[in-house]
Amino acid sequence: MRNPAKGAEQPGEPSGISRRDFLQNLIAGEVLVGLISPVPADCQVSPEPLPSDLTRGTRLDEGRPSATALGTALARAAHQILDRPRVLEDPLALRILGLEKESDRREQLIGRYRPQGALRAFLALRSRYAEDELARAIQRGVGQYVILGAGLDTFPYRNPYPGSKLRVYEVDHPATQAWKRRRLHESGIEIPDSVAFAPVDFEKQSLGEGLVGAGFRKAEPAFFSWLGVVIYLTKPAVLETLRFVAALPADSEIVFDYCVPPAGLPDDLRAAHERLARRTAEYGEPWITYFEPQALAQELRQKGFMQMEDLDSEEANRRYFKDRADGLRVNGAGRLLMARV
Ligand SMILES: C[S@@+](CC[C@H](N)C(=O)[O-])C[C@H]1O[C@@H](n2cnc3c(N)ncnc32)[C@H](O)[C@@H]1O
Repeated sequence: MRNPAKGAEQPGEPSGISRRDFLQNLIAGEVLVGLISPVPADCQVSPEPLPSDLTRGTRLDEGRPSATALGTALARAAHQILDRPRVLEDPLALRILGLEKESDRREQLIGRYRPQGALRAFLALRSRYAEDELARAIQRGVGQYVILGAGLDTFPYRNPYPGSKLRVYEVDHPATQAWKRRRLHESGIEIPDSVAFAPVDFEKQSLGEGLVGAGFRKAEPAFFSWLGVVIYLTKPAVLETLRFVAALPADSEIVFDYCVPPAGLPDDLRAAHERLARRTAEYGEPWITYFEPQALAQELRQKGFMQMEDLDSEEANRRYFKDRADGLRVNGAGRLLMARV
């Protein structure tokens, strides 16, 4: 059971930060993403860790922005510096974190992220896969892109398509979205007219209402990405979002990643998975929802999705990491799924 927010800070507002809070911020950043100093003070998101006890609610329930969104953004930034060829070209990945000109911090980012190749690879891959699918959807005439649980995703600000061709909706928990908007402002990244924001808590609010309120047109097809979010949501909230997308006009599509239950993984991968799961829980973003691929496919078919692709590590490596001199590749429990109406 999750409790509603109580005694929350204003979403995304930097509180007057005490030395104790500041140190705890640093520790939280370090534990979550394997970093301390590369995170500039204005990126800090974690006043204090939460116990891994869901009855207290998540950090988002408490009005605090997502720390895992910072972690995934740092991994994409590290990918820009470390990996050649890049799987994801993201010229804003460093800038949104305030790391564009910070050479010392960049060096630390490299030092900390270099050993985490498979995780870094997966986080770059899922954005690349979504953007490849988006490009195909646009060729089919889809003109709306909804980024669910957007975190610090920079696509809307490096979007190569004109506003007349693609309207972009950023949906995220209000606490994370307020923080992102501050990050955009502080890093001098302009918000184009093609972007609309819809603050929505998937557990408590209607996605449809939030989107329509931001100008989304339900009578037209849309492409959705939902990266790194499903595992944090309750199953009913996941299924409700899938139901919403499945009810949209033909050619609508969603790309998301999900995890298979760790019990079925080889010992080394399961141990790595459980270590990371413990840490995200301690910091108030527990992993709670897993899917078996066959059961998920059946669920999607029942909801009305007509075409699907479920990419496991082997296929992802064949398609995106073949013949690399640096050996970068994905492994683990994460899978990428595309489902089209
Ligand atoms: C691991 S981050 C991923 C962010 C981004 N998609 C990426 O790939 O970097 C998880 C995201 O899910 C969002 N999220 C988690 N629970 C949510 C909820 N109940 N409602 C809305 N967003 C939620 C967080 O705010 C955060 O942006």
